[in-house]
Amino acid sequence: MHTTPHTGFPANEAEVAAYLERHGQKDMLRFLTAGSVDDGKSTLIGRLLYDSKMIYEDQLATVIEDSAIHGTTDTDFDPALLTDGLKAEREQGITIDVAYRYFSTDKRNFIIADTPGHEQYTRNMATGASTCDLAVILMDARHGVLEQTRRHSFIASLLGIRHLAVCINKMDLVDYSQEAFERIREAYEGFAAKLEDIDLHFIPISALRGDNVVDSSEHMPWYQGGSLLYYLETVPVSTDRNLIDMRFPVQVVLRPDLNYRGYSGTVASGVLRKGNDVVALPSGRRSRIASITTFDGEIEEAFPPMAVTLTLEDEVDISRGDMIVHPNNRPHVAQDFEAVVVWMNDEPLTLNGSYLVKSTTNLVPATVTGLQYRFDVNSLHRVEADTLHANEIGRLQISTHRQICFDAYSRNRSTGCFIIVDRNTNATVGAGMILDREQPAQPVNSTAEPKSTHITREASGVSVVERETLLKQKSVTLWLTGLSGSGKSTIARDLERALFDRNQACFILDGDNIRHGLNRDLGFSASERTENIRRVSEVAALLNDAGLIVITSFISPYREDRAKAREIIGGDRFVEIHVDTPIEVCEARDPKGLYKKARAGEIAQFTGIDAPYEAPETPELTLKTSESPVEKSTADIIAYLEEKGLVSG
Ligand code: ADX
Repeated sequence: MHTTPHTGFPANEAEVAAYLERHGQKDMLRFLTAGSVDDGKSTLIGRLLYDSKMIYEDQLATVIEDSAIHGTTDTDFDPALLTDGLKAEREQGITIDVAYRYFSTDKRNFIIADTPGHEQYTRNMATGASTCDLAVILMDARHGVLEQTRRHSFIASLLGIRHLAVCINKMDLVDYSQEAFERIREAYEGFAAKLEDIDLHFIPISALRGDNVVDSSEHMPWYQGGSLLYYLETVPVSTDRNLIDMRFPVQVVLRPDLNYRGYSGTVASGVLRKGNDVVALPSGRRSRIASITTFDGEIEEAFPPMAVTLTLEDEVDISRGDMIVHPNNRPHVAQDFEAVVVWMNDEPLTLNGSYLVKSTTNLVPATVTGLQYRFDVNSLHRVEADTLHANEIGRLQISTHRQICFDAYSRNRSTGCFIIVDRNTNATVGAGMILDREQPAQPVNSTAEPKSTHITREASGVSVVERETLLKQKSVTLWLTGLSGSGKSTIARDLERALFDRNQACFILDGDNIRHGLNRDLGFSASERTENIRRVSEVAALLNDAGLIVITSFISPYREDRAKAREIIGGDRFVEIHVDTPIEVCEARDPKGLYKKARAGEIAQFTGIDAPYEAPETPELTLKTSESPVEKSTADIIAYLEEKGLVSG
C-alpha cells in the first residue's frame, strides 16, 4: 500500500483548476523544486507537508510504518516517503516524472510542480514548470554550488521564474556552520549576478531534521531570515496568468451528430466570453462564441487553465491544432521561429534532422535548420557549437512543415513553449521557449527569372557613354562592405563630398536609409539580406546607367550576394571595397548602441554576434579604419579611381 497526501496528484491543469475552485480566491503560489539527486527534494517536500500538518493522521501512520521498511535514514520518520507517491520511484530510488502536489495554509494555496532530481529535470519545463512563480533551488551544504545547480537556476530564469528560494540543505551535516552557509551564498551570488531579473532569498535548512523548513531553527541563531514556508507564504508574486491574449488551442472536435459541433480544449490564456467575436487560425475563418460548456454545465466565461467545450454560431471547419483567438489579437502564424532549447536526449541534436514539434495541441514534423550558439552554463557565455548534447542549452532555428500558431514565450508562456519529439522513438528530446523577434517575412522572391512573361527590354536613345561624356566621369559603383560600425557610412559621406567638390555627379545608397523606404519590408534573416542586396544592386545598376557614380554602404555580409551584385551591376563598373575594421573596434565604437543590445539578446541575428560576416577574399581595395582617419580612406579611394582612369585627375 502506498500513501498519497490528501492533497493528491492532479493529472492535469484541469484538475488544478478544480482544486483552485474548491479553495476559493486565496492567493496562490506555484513553485518547483530543483536540485541534484541527493540534495533532498523529496525530503523537503515531505517535511513541508508534515510540519504544516498537511496530511491525515491515518496516512501518517502508514508512512511511519513504511519508513521502517524502506527508509534510508536514521530518523523514525522519513519525509521523503510522503512525497514519493509513485511506486516505481520508490523502487528505483529516483523520482521519475513530474507531479503536481498542492497544499494550503491560512495564507496561501500552493502548487508544487515536483520535477525529477537528476538531469532529467528539464523534461517537464515545457509543461508544469513553465507556469511557476518561484523555484526552490536545493544545494547540499557539503557540496555547495554544482554545475547542476547553475544549470537548473539558469533554466528557471529562462522559464521566466523571477524568485529563487536558494535552500542550503543538510546544514546538520556541517554543524550548522554559518561560515559554510556564507561561503555557498557568496559563490551562488557570483553566478546569479549574470541571471536577468532574479530575486534571490537564501535559507539554511535541514529538511530531514526540520530546521527552517516550516519552523525556525534553534540550531542556527545566526540566521534570522525566517523559514522557507514563511518565505513561500509572504513573497510577493503577481500572478503570471496572461488574461489578455485569448488563445484557445483546439484539442478535440466533437461531432456526435450532424447538428452539433463542439471544440474542446484548455484555455491557454485570455478570457473567453459567450458572444465574443473569434477567428480560427490558421484558416482565418470568423465566427462568434455561441456557448461555453464545462463538465458541470454551461458557463458565461472561461479563463486559463479551464477545460471547456465551445460551440460557434457558424459552421466553420476547424480541426485539432487550430487556435481560436480574438480577431484583433492574433498570435504569430508561421513556419519558422527561433527558440532557446534545452536538449534532453543522450543522442545529440542532428542539425537539419527531422523531428516532431509539439506546440499547444499541434504535433508537426519539423526541421532544426540552425544552431546559433549554446550557453556555457557555468559562465553563461555563448559559445560556438555544431550540436547540442544532453542537458545543453542552445539557440535554434526551427522550421515546421506546416504553419503553427504561437507567441513569444516572454509574452505567453503557454503558447510560447514547445517540446521536440524524436520521430522514431517518440521520446521527448528537447524543450524550448520561442524567442521574441520579428518573424521572417514569407520566403523572399529573388529568383533569377522575372515573374512576368511577355516582357521585352526597351533601349534608350541616349547611350551610357554619351552620359558619361556629359558628366566627365565613368559610372562606377563603389561597393563598401563591412561590419556595422566599421565606418562605411562615414567614409561614404566624406567620399561623396570630396567627389562632388571635384564636380563629379555621385550618389549614396545607404542601408539604414533604403530600409526605411524601398526595402522597408525586409528584416535581417539570410534570405532577406540577400533580397536587400539584390534590390540595391538593381538600383545601383540603374543609377550607373544614368551616368552617376554610386557609393553603396551595406554590410552585405554574404560573399555570394556580393558576387551577384557584381554580376548585376557589371564587372567593369563594380569596385568592391572592404571596410576592414575588427569587430572589437566596431563594438567599442557602437555608434548606435546596437552591439550592446545584441549582446543583451535584444536584437537577433546581429552581424558579427549571432549572424555571419564573410569578408571579401579579393576586394579591389581594403581600408583599415582602425589605423587611419576617414580622410585617408577617401584619399585611397580617389587615388584608386584616378589610377584606373575612372575620374580625371
Ligand atoms: S545587410 O546585412 O542587409 O547588408 P544593411 O547594411 O542593409 O544590412 O543594414 C545594416 C544596418 O541595419 C546596420 O548598420 C544597423 O544600423 C541596422 N541593423 C539593425 N538590426 C541589425 C542586425 N540584426 N544586423 C545588422 N544590422 C542591423
